[in-house]
Amino acid sequence: MSESLIAYVNGEFLPMESATVHIEDRGFQFADGIYEVVACFNGFFLDIEPHLERLDRSCREINIILPMSQAALSDLVQEVYKRNPFRNAMIYIQITRGASARTHLPPPGLVPTVVITSRQLPIPPDTKVAQGASAITLQDIRWKRCDIKSIALLASVLGKQEAASRGAEEAIWLDEQGHALEGCSTNIFATIGDTLVTHPLDHQVLGGITRSMALKAAKACNIPVEERAWRLDEPGLSECMMSSTTNAIMPITLVNGQAVGDGLPGPMAMQLRSWMLADMEAMQA
Ligand SMILES: Cc1ncc(COP(=O)(O)O)c(C=O)c1O
Repeated sequence: MSESLIAYVNGEFLPMESATVHIEDRGFQFADGIYEVVACFNGFFLDIEPHLERLDRSCREINIILPMSQAALSDLVQEVYKRNPFRNAMIYIQITRGASARTHLPPPGLVPTVVITSRQLPIPPDTKVAQGASAITLQDIRWKRCDIKSIALLASVLGKQEAASRGAEEAIWLDEQGHALEGCSTNIFATIGDTLVTHPLDHQVLGGITRSMALKAAKACNIPVEERAWRLDEPGLSECMMSSTTNAIMPITLVNGQAVGDGLPGPMAMQLRSWMLADMEAMQA
């Protein structure tokens, strides 16, 4: 299968198996880089501009100068999509500071490494949506710049492993006061009373592109929205849900083995999900 896959690496389109980076790449040695994931449905990219703007911001926050314009990067992303066999694709973009002899302080003049790959977009089956996902909670052990889409994802890997070992799909990070921050690879929302609630954007959460789509959809439909610290045991909480590029909105019906609300996907999650899917379909019309 991988014979037919093509990756972009530093100016070249190469078969996946011969696409390599240097063993002294700082991404490999220090996780010194950032990434982005963009979904493409049938040739139509979902919100590519906000994704590329977030990538540019992540680069700036770690003092990497994006080695090309966002427009040139967008063209490369489209080219990688075209050269690979997936109709619905998940395009992965990774930019690291480049390769050099291993010292913490990067020498001046490094040329950033740029890698772009395409894989089948994993779309959750309807049966999963109808059942809802399950999550666990964990004390947040991550660094204090979760707003940067860093490739240093060890805490999230451990969180996902712990969730899987307990039969769950996602781990929700809690701060020291027990507030729900976000998942390992998702933003988290609750319905409390009639209000859609999610943690505000700060150093503890990634500004998810799907998170902003969901908030925009809710506001457009006059659903009250609050971006504030919240807890899973808050009175009036009836629904929990997660958002990400690969999930759109996915209801969470079990947390730590306990049903959320009545244990079924709630109306807010399902309404937001169907608005978002309708938008994606309209984009392809
Ligand atoms: C920690 C974290 N939060 C949230 C998200 C969701 O972001 P987006 O909606 O842009 O995919 C991700 C996606 O990878 C993530 O890793």
